[in-house]
Amino acid sequence: MKNTLFFILLWPCVAFSQFTQIKIVKEVRIKDKGLIVSAHPLASEAGALMLRKEGNAFDAAVATQLALAVVYPQAGNLGGGGFLVATKTNGEKFTLDYRETAPSKASRDMYLDKKGNADTDLSQNGRLAVGVPGSVAGFFATLKHCKLPMDVLIQPAIELAQKGFAITDREASLLNREMPSFERHNKIQTVFQRKSKWKKGDILIQKDLAETLKRIQKEGAEGFYQGETAQLIVAEMKRGNGIIEMGDLKNYRVIERKPIMFNYKENEILSMPLPSSGGILLAQMLKMSSFENLGNHRHNSPEAVQIMVEAERRAFADRAEYMGDPHFIEDRTQMLISDDYLKKRWKSFDRNWATPSAAVGKITKQPEESTETTHISILDREGNAVAVTTTLNGLYGSKVVVAGAGFFLNNEMDDFSIKPGVPNMFGAVGGEANSVQPGKRMLSSMTPTIVLKNGKPFIIVGTPGGTTIPTSVFQSIVNIVDFGLSAADAVNSPKFHHQWLPEGVLVESNFPDETVKALNKKNYELVKTDQIGRTELIVIDEKGNSTAVADGRGDDSVGIE
Ligand code: DON
Repeated sequence: MKNTLFFILLWPCVAFSQFTQIKIVKEVRIKDKGLIVSAHPLASEAGALMLRKEGNAFDAAVATQLALAVVYPQAGNLGGGGFLVATKTNGEKFTLDYRETAPSKASRDMYLDKKGNADTDLSQNGRLAVGVPGSVAGFFATLKHCKLPMDVLIQPAIELAQKGFAITDREASLLNREMPSFERHNKIQTVFQRKSKWKKGDILIQKDLAETLKRIQKEGAEGFYQGETAQLIVAEMKRGNGIIEMGDLKNYRVIERKPIMFNYKENEILSMPLPSSGGILLAQMLKMSSFENLGNHRHNSPEAVQIMVEAERRAFADRAEYMGDPHFIEDRTQMLISDDYLKKRWKSFDRNWATPSAAVGKITKQPEESTETTHISILDREGNAVAVTTTLNGLYGSKVVVAGAGFFLNNEMDDFSIKPGVPNMFGAVGGEANSVQPGKRMLSSMTPTIVLKNGKPFIIVGTPGGTTIPTSVFQSIVNIVDFGLSAADAVNSPKFHHQWLPEGVLVESNFPDETVKALNKKNYELVKTDQIGRTELIVIDEKGNSTAVADGRGDDSVGIE
């Protein structure tokens, strides 16, 4: 029978909305139906609704991002940016870059005080931290691959904003935690602030946001980048030290780019090129770890983790030195992912001892550690595959809500290297290649990725997590390809992360003790951390059965056509 739904797993099932009976669905195996995985069940349902209306993966991508901007304000957004990687059944492979840009009044030293000291509060919080948003332009650039009009795609988001929805426990506690920063950074009371604490099941109604969405529905991208919404953004800038002007918004452009493509074993991998470092890092890490035949070792064994950490160390050292917006710097991608270069880089690997970070890259200054973004993986019935990662950067971005328009603005400017050697909020350092310049896109780590086998989608994957993004995508892929893990184990088994600087290796709290101890003996410092990433994964087997897994670490959920 065609359209057979042959297996659905639900764990845990949480009915949380008094408006809908939508549940969190963690894993679905299915054939001949579209699947979508996102950070929120109502957003996955908005995408699934489009698939049921005869829309394709691109329709689902737009509807889900718009719904996330309502139901997942911590990272879903109109005021941020993102990347989309896609393969179509007609063989087309492309990416859309709707990353934020530095405003025209931005300058190299804009976050330095008179003494030349970097002020990360300015690059991370408030109006000066905001890059020119790209997301809405990204939705309209996606539209040419869609079957349904924007009018239909945006409707679920409008209804969710107008009628409200019940917030999850996680969202409630994050809103409570961030309340002081909302107070600090907003001059006009926002819908996210209130006297009593937020709790699970409270209804969040966003009238101003509904009106903004209706302007986009009626006027198209101009309903955001020109006219009333743009004026509201600029007025918000003027309530503080913001520098985005009407011209910055009007001139914002999406860039269609060729994906970074490389082979790994019998698979072809497509990921995001610069201005994301994600695709290059992924290629470097996979290729370097293949020099040691990773698959000969056990998953999360000391031997496998050491190889992967050392590949991560060398890749992240290159990130700091060479990567930035390719319109402003020399694009060294081909050199950086070439076998010759990587073999040379791998020569210093010593299976008995940790390689000191200083041995693989020039350290300007020792950084400190710190840590929302969200990923969507989609497969439609026709076989189109879409991977989208979108972000405000930090949790609720700059914490500034555009008064009268109801959405958070990003704090993406912090992804620039505001001073050589000064770490951003994810501890990433950089230099000239990623310095602030007007119109430039800040270097990203977002890694929306599609793996093809015999020319057909095999894995669709991505995650939030700042610099832990490429390493989590790397692990998800090798978990399946090299270690033979199930899709659910590939996502939910304990993860680790290393990024050259700092020297330590982050491991999730349930990481195997024997591996920690064995690596300590080789001079690795392993540091326990709460959770790494929220991976959304779809795996398609050779018989065409698809398994979608939503990360168990959050409220993430699968939507079914
Ligand atoms: O583009 C980047 O790499 C960052 N702005 C992503 C931020 C992120 O993933 C936050 N999530 N936890």
